[in-house]
This record gives sequence, C-alpha cells and structure tokens, in this order.
Amino acid sequence: MKALVLAGGSGTRLRPITHTSAKQLVPVANKPVLFYVLEAIAATGVTEVGMVVGSTQEEIERAVGDGSAFGLEVTYLRQDAPLGLAHAVLISREYLGDDDFVMYLGDNFIVGGIDPVVRRFHADRPAAQIMLTRVTDPRQFGVAELDASGRVVGLEEKPPAPKSDLALVGVYIFTPAVHDAVAALKPSWRGELEITDAIQWLIDAGRRVESTEVSGYWKDTGNVTDMLEVNRLVLEGLEQRLDGKVADDCEIIGRVVVEAGAEVAGSRIVGPVIVGAGAVIRDSYVGPFTSVAENCHIAESEIEYSIMLHRASIHGVRRIEASLIGRDVEVTPAPNTPRAHRLVLGDHSKVQISS
Ligand code: DAU
Repeated sequence: MKALVLAGGSGTRLRPITHTSAKQLVPVANKPVLFYVLEAIAATGVTEVGMVVGSTQEEIERAVGDGSAFGLEVTYLRQDAPLGLAHAVLISREYLGDDDFVMYLGDNFIVGGIDPVVRRFHADRPAAQIMLTRVTDPRQFGVAELDASGRVVGLEEKPPAPKSDLALVGVYIFTPAVHDAVAALKPSWRGELEITDAIQWLIDAGRRVESTEVSGYWKDTGNVTDMLEVNRLVLEGLEQRLDGKVADDCEIIGRVVVEAGAEVAGSRIVGPVIVGAGAVIRDSYVGPFTSVAENCHIAESEIEYSIMLHRASIHGVRRIEASLIGRDVEVTPAPNTPRAHRLVLGDHSKVQISS
C-alpha cells in the first residue's frame, strides 16, 4: 500500500489563522498539521508517500524534505493547478501504479490516527473505505447519505440542503478501481474533479464502499474556537519535558514542555503547556492549554487557553484568555492617559476588549 498526501491548493492566504501560505502548515500544539498526517501514515507501516503539491511546493518541501525524519520516502508530485481532489489522483496515476492507497488531505487532523481504519480495509478490501464524522454545518463538506443498514447510498459535495450531518473526513482508502472512476469524471459546478463524485461512481457501478464513523476530527475552517479546542486535545497528551533553561524561581506544575533553547524565569506555568525553542518567558503566568511557538516573548503578563504563533510578544498585559495571537504580533499596554485602546489590526482580525 502507498499513501497520497494532498498538500496542493491555490496558496492564497486564508483568514487570520492561516498565516503561512500553505494551509497544511498551520500549527497545532506548535507542530504543522501536515506533520501529524505524516506521523499517522508512518504509524500504519506505509512508507511510500506521494505528496501532491502546487504553488506552495517550495514551502512544503522545506518543511518535509525527503520524509526521512518521519521514516518515510516522500516523492513530490506537481499538480499545475488545483483542479480537484480527483484530479490529484489523476496526475498521480503513474506513481500509484496498481497499488492500493490511502489518500490523506494534508489539512485534516484526526485525533487517534488512522491505523484502525487501515486495518479494517486490509481485512475486507472494499473498492473504497471512507471516514465520516458528525458536524454542525455539513454544507462546508462532502456529505454522505446512509440507508437503514448503515450502507452508503449517496454522496454530495457541499450540498446547500444536506441529507445528513455526516461529513466526509479527508481520509480515503482505495483499490486501483478508483482510477476508472476518476477517468470517467466531468468537472463539478465548482469546476473541480470531485473525489466525492468518483466514490459515487463506484457506488453506481455496484462496487462496495464502506464507511467508518470517527470523532475527534478537525480542519481549519477559520473558526478560532475549534482551533483552541484541537490545541487543547493535543496538549492533553503531553508528558513533562524541560529541555530549556528553567530558573530556580519558577513554579512548573504538571505536563509542561519547555523545548531546548527556551528560557523561563520568575514565572508560574501550569500545564498542559508547550513552550517552543527560543521563546523567553519572564515574570509571567502561563495557564493550561497554551501553545507558545518558537521565539515568542512573554514578560510581566498572564495568558491561558491560548495559542501564540512564531515571534509573537506580550509585555505587561493581564490577562489574555481564549486567544489566537498571530506571527510577529506585539501586545502591550496603552499609555495611561488618555484612557484609550490603540489598535493596529491586520485584515480579518477580531478583538474583544474588556473595558
Ligand atoms: O476536509 C474534508 C473535505 O475535503 C471533504 O468533506 C470534502 O468532501 C472534500 O471535497 C474536501 O473539501 P474541501 O473543499 O475542504 O477541500 P480543499 O479544497 O480544502 O482541499 C483539501 C486538501 O487538498 C488541501 O490540503 C489542499 C489539497 N488540494 C486541493 C485541491 C482542490 C490539492 O492538493 N489539490 C487540489 O486540486
């Protein structure tokens, strides 16, 4: 079995969360979503990975390299334009050969990995194995309709009137039968070759499509509440590791990771918390479920249940909660007179001020 990871796409900047142009590199607990994808694939025993890339190829290659850091052999497959998930399969035809493959969308995060679903596929080898999860707004996803016995009878891509709340998760396992389906497709209303249509084609051709329902699923839809929640879930799994410099006057409680090269002094940190390399925390409180990325600065401040991206700094601010603080952002107190907020906010920013 091989893996096909989709890390292409248009590379347009999306929403405030996606601060890099490749959305697959959005960090969860200080690690890009794409790295969790590669770790989940490695855990199944698959080693050959085709990585579909587009205009952000350089950025992805810089992060992943040849895949050896993950125990994988990564081959880059260039897709000239993001013409759809099934188009990505089409351009990977030669690489995939006649192997079964697991296709994993590089911006999807599945808590608990994909090992059980891969084992289930091997045990009974349907033409396609899909994963479903219940969501509050199915209109943003591919949506599955099941019959009374739980069999998948229909799939629709981003339907205005969804027939269920079961969304297609971005992990699919296929036999080579999918190549006939993909070759027969016409572009959808949004001009893409849809993998949803390819799976529907298999169903219509009488081929077996099996589904598994999963919980613990996340993708970046621009929703900060969801992002903080997935960050919390991942931080729950931390073990204490203090590789950086932690001064004697600190109080470190519970599952706290301080990476090598980070420095903490005069502060109280209550885990789970991760502090990235090169970060400096001084005379501050960092509370549970906070990810502090590399080279951040926190001084004389309090922060809890939040995410700070690279090089963000907070000086003299009490107290920040449930917040996402982007790259290179600086948060400082305003001068005392006049009593006013002074803001320089980027496009699409959202601020809630308590005054
Ligand atoms: O995330 C799950 C959803 O993913 C499913 O519920 C939908 O059925 C499926 O169509 C897909 O929907 P999206 O519209 O959200 O997919 P998106 O365009 O965001 O692309 C998903 C990933 O695949 C992303 O990492 C970019 C990459 N991609 C996308 C396209 C269209 C490619 O590599 N090539 C492409 O041509």
